[in-house]
Amino acid sequence: MAQSQSQQGLSQFMSSLLADDSRYEGLDLVVAAIADGVRNVNNKVQAAAIADVLGTTGEVNVQGEIVQILDQASSDTFVDALRDCGRVAAVGSEEITEGTVIGDSPLHNYFVLMDPLDGSSNIDVAVSIGSIFGIWSRPPDISVTEESLLQPGNKQVAAVYAVYGSSTVLVVAVEGKVNGFTLNIATGEFELTHKDLRIPEKCEYYSAPEHNYKNWSTAMQEVVDGLRDTHSLRYVGSLVADFHRNLLKGGIFLYPGDSKSPQGKLRLMYEANPLGYVAEQAGGNVSDGSQRILDILPTKLHQRVPLIVGNASTVVDTIEKLQK
Ligand code: AHG
Ligand code: MN
Ligand code: MN
Repeated sequence: MAQSQSQQGLSQFMSSLLADDSRYEGLDLVVAAIADGVRNVNNKVQAAAIADVLGTTGEVNVQGEIVQILDQASSDTFVDALRDCGRVAAVGSEEITEGTVIGDSPLHNYFVLMDPLDGSSNIDVAVSIGSIFGIWSRPPDISVTEESLLQPGNKQVAAVYAVYGSSTVLVVAVEGKVNGFTLNIATGEFELTHKDLRIPEKCEYYSAPEHNYKNWSTAMQEVVDGLRDTHSLRYVGSLVADFHRNLLKGGIFLYPGDSKSPQGKLRLMYEANPLGYVAEQAGGNVSDGSQRILDILPTKLHQRVPLIVGNASTVVDTIEKLQK
C-alpha cells in the first residue's frame, strides 16, 4: 500500500531528498539531530512549570537579556544533539557568547547557527515559541574558529525551524524545497504534513512591533499605516510563530530599526538568515529595508539587523516605499 503523505517520516523523506548527492553528505544526520533536540525541548515546553523550566536563571546573556531557564536548557540540549551526530564542527548560539567548536575531523563538515528558544517572553504564559537553525557547509581546509562561522546567509545549505504551538511543527528548507513535518505525540515521529510549502501570492497579514511606532522613521510609519489599512494585524511576539503563519497564509513580518536601536532587535546569523533562507526557498523575499539580508557579510556572531520578510511582492513594495 503506498504510504499516505502523512505517514512519510522526516528521516525517510530527508534521505530520499538528499540521496547520493555528495554536496549534502551527512546533512540528513544534522537535521535528524535537530529533530531529536526539538522532541526533547518540546517535552520540556509541554511540561513547563512541572518540569521546572519556567522563570529565569538570573544570568544576563551577551544580548543583555535575562536568560530564561528554557533558553539555557534548550541551548544545552541542541549543542549535545549536534555534537552527538558527529557531523557538526561548530555551533553559534544566541545563548553562548562565542562560537563553540564541537568536532574537528574531516567528517565534521557543517556549521550550525541557532536561536535555541525564540520568543522567550512567551515561555511563562504558554504562548507559541520556537527554535531556529541556519546550516552552512564548513569550507574545505578551514580551521574552525568563530570567524569561520561568520558566512553570509547566501552560503546556507539548509535552514530549519520548529514551532512549539497548538501542534509541534518542524519546517526544513533545503535544495529549493520547503517541507513541514508535524510531531506525532503518540509515536514521536515527525510526519510529512506540509509538502512543498510556498508563500501564497495574496498577502493577508502583517506583523510588526507597533509599540515602537513612535521611534520609527516617517517612511516606516507610513508603510505600516498603509499595511494597517489593507491587512490584518497578527503579532505574537515570537518571530518564528509570526513567520510560520505568514509562510502558510501569506503575510509580511517587519521588525524595523528605530531611533533607539538603528539595527533593530533581531539577530542576523540565527534569526534573519535562516528564516530569510526559508522565505526565499518558498518564493518569498527578505530584506533589511535596503538590501537582501542573505548578501550581508557578517562581522559579529550576535549582530542585529532590521528585518522585513515574507510575501515577495509586499516586501518589494515595502522597500520601494522606504527608498522613495
Ligand atoms: P528571543 O526570545 O530569541 O530573544 O527572540 C525574541 C524576539 C522575536 O521572537 C520576536 O519577534 C521579538 O523578539 C519580539 O520583540 P518585542 O518584544 O520587542 O515585540
Ligand atoms: Mn529569537
Ligand atoms: Mn532566543
